[in-house]
Amino acid sequence: MQDPVFVKDAFAKIAGRYILTNHVLSLGMDILWRRRVARLVAGLQPRRLLDLATGTGDLAEAISAAVGPGCAITGADFSAPMLEVARARSFAADWMVADALDLPFADGHFDVVTVAFGLRNMADWPAAIREMARVTRPGGQLVVLDFSLPTLPGLREAYRFYLHRVLPRLAGLLTGQRAAYEYLSGTIERFPSGAAMGELLTAHGFARAEAIPLSGGIASIYVATKAAAD
Ligand SMILES: C[S@@+](CC[C@H](N)C(=O)[O-])C[C@H]1O[C@@H](n2cnc3c(N)ncnc32)[C@H](O)[C@@H]1O
Repeated sequence: MQDPVFVKDAFAKIAGRYILTNHVLSLGMDILWRRRVARLVAGLQPRRLLDLATGTGDLAEAISAAVGPGCAITGADFSAPMLEVARARSFAADWMVADALDLPFADGHFDVVTVAFGLRNMADWPAAIREMARVTRPGGQLVVLDFSLPTLPGLREAYRFYLHRVLPRLAGLLTGQRAAYEYLSGTIERFPSGAAMGELLTAHGFARAEAIPLSGGIASIYVATKAAAD
């Protein structure tokens, strides 16, 4: 659970270098993770999709390429500077400034809602999940992509060393905003993953959830399904 004033300010400051910094810090793995989500989403054949906390629109673009023109994509984020970068992209999407905790959409409006590296940054995870469930149609899906901690002991310790000692320094050099990346390391430690995330999703509006670990568990995809209408 995060302070929205700090989060908005942090993303406003790094918006211009966000994409490059992600690719450097993850050694390009973030591109593969988003493509994996995009392929999964294409298999769900959505006609209306919301990419929430869309930021600079990286996931929305990968999804657009995977699903083709038959799907209307909306990208929403509460950071106008991040959305400015998204708006410069060349594919068709509706971009809008909106708070994930109070979305301006009707109940059940979207077939699929996606959120990449966004839920972790929100002020109230249960409330955000309930709001995502509200705008998902019965039988539709929420697909979450986010960091998790590897479960393998050696890898877990090596990753933690990278997360706390290397990443903030490197990102500080790239963006001049080291504090924003110290914040990132802290949020990854506190964010639920695996079965705990599944429980959070099913406690707040979804009927079932499946976890798919990526790259040894450094990141995970969660696919949560809303109960179908009676
Ligand atoms: C790490 S970025 C992820 C951007 C993009 N999804 C990606 O895959 O690169 C997190 C984004 O979450 C947004 N965010 C955090 N809390 C939010 C909220 N309550 N409502 C809307 N956007 C929010 C931030 O503004 C930021 O753009």
